[in-house]
Amino acid sequence: MFFDERTKPSDVLVAELDGVVAGWVKVQSAFPAVTAHAHVLEIGGLAVDPGHQGAGVGRRLVEAAVQECSRLGARKVTLRVLRHNVGARRLYEKGGFLPEGVLRGEFLLEESYVDDVLMARHLVAPV
Ligand SMILES: CC(C)(COP(=O)(O)OP(=O)(O)OC[C@H]1O[C@@H](n2cnc3c(N)ncnc32)[C@H](O)[C@@H]1OP(=O)(O)O)[C@@H](O)C(=O)NCCC(=O)NCCS
Repeated sequence: MFFDERTKPSDVLVAELDGVVAGWVKVQSAFPAVTAHAHVLEIGGLAVDPGHQGAGVGRRLVEAAVQECSRLGARKVTLRVLRHNVGARRLYEKGGFLPEGVLRGEFLLEESYVDDVLMARHLVAPV
């Protein structure tokens, strides 16, 4: 099920083309119970329908997510992306995200341990 205690409908922005959902992005807090982390929000998932990829939907969803994070008061937006997901990493780089760390061997996929890259875009310069 897509929606549960961790994902409310208000956490998800959708891209609509001709009345059809072409993609979605989820904005959330990684540590909702931690006040000291309240200034950081994350893109917790992003996908564009294969039939609509390559047309700028992902770019617009990333920008909409960043705007939503700003509206909610975030100073920093983070996300995690598999190191081998070159297209998504390029998309995020174009959206102003920079790598802040690599989680080595974070996932076991098809019998290989693969890296996850932590990326961030600072909306307010860190002091
Ligand atoms: C990654 C994904 C969201 C991109 O969405 P999209 O709508 O196709 O992306 P856009 O058309 O907005 O592309 C914007 C930029 O991202 C980069 N990009 C996107 N897909 C790319 C690819 N396959 N290879 C290289 N660069 C890519 C390009 O720089 C592109 O700019 P350009 O068209 O000027 O070259 C989409 O491919 C997808 O849903 N993939 C499966 C799910 C996924 O990987 N989600 C991310 C999880 S962290």
